[in-house]
Amino acid sequence: MSVSAQIVNATPRVLVFDSGVGGLSVFDAIAASGLALDLDYAADNAWLPYGLKSDVELRDRVPALLAALAAQWMPDVVVLACNTASTIALEEVRGLLSVPVVGVVPPIKPAAAQTKTGTIGLLATPATVARAYTDELISRFAPDKHLIRFGSSALVNAAEAKLRGDGLDGSAMIEAIKGLFDAPGGGEIDVIALACTHFPLLAGELAAAAPHSCVWLDSGAAIARRVGLVSAALPGTAHARRIGFTDLAAARALQSALDARGFERVFAIDAHAGFAAHSP
Ligand code: DGL
Repeated sequence: MSVSAQIVNATPRVLVFDSGVGGLSVFDAIAASGLALDLDYAADNAWLPYGLKSDVELRDRVPALLAALAAQWMPDVVVLACNTASTIALEEVRGLLSVPVVGVVPPIKPAAAQTKTGTIGLLATPATVARAYTDELISRFAPDKHLIRFGSSALVNAAEAKLRGDGLDGSAMIEAIKGLFDAPGGGEIDVIALACTHFPLLAGELAAAAPHSCVWLDSGAAIARRVGLVSAALPGTAHARRIGFTDLAAARALQSALDARGFERVFAIDAHAGFAAHSP
């Protein structure tokens, strides 16, 4: 099915959403795609981590929050840059929004295409590894592969800490690597699907901690291509425009990560009202 946005902004405007900084890995891939886009980012960091929330809680919160944000920020395309939210609430979000919504789900299909040993590591949040959506992706795209799953919220915290400049939590990394490679048959893993958008922010450290070299796959480049198709953006430069947080005070520590991406304005999002407390 081809979905293209009805572009209302002179330059296509894309809103990237995640619970925290993880979606910045997707944002970076879109920014690097060589397309003229205005990029906004919204983080529900007051509710981090999503991977420990129940399905009901996420379904209650994420679609309503995104609908309110979209009504105020007027994107042409929304990217739900969160596997944990996409695997439980993507259809609800699409149902509420009048613009195309690109979801980010575990990269099982490319992992199945690239494994030579037939053993794939799946690293995601505790919620995503246990989702029916994930089971369906595996039975559809990797029915003959051996999937070894490991769910970690500690890695989400480690990625947040890294972008705050707080240093690395090596124990989260070691626990995840052991969880995959020490599992029965884990020595055969040759491809790892990073199915949480926070984890590509730690890809170098994870690869260095692994017992042998593997292909580390994430969804960033594929999502960037999808955004390019849906927005019909022209070649050019992407601009980081606005970034909003449901806990702005906690986000202050991220200043250098935000500066590195060149955001023009930083906002508080009032999660109760569901929109930016100060008009963006
Ligand atoms: N970055 C998110 C994901 O892709 C969720 C992290 C979290 O809040 O648990 O799953």
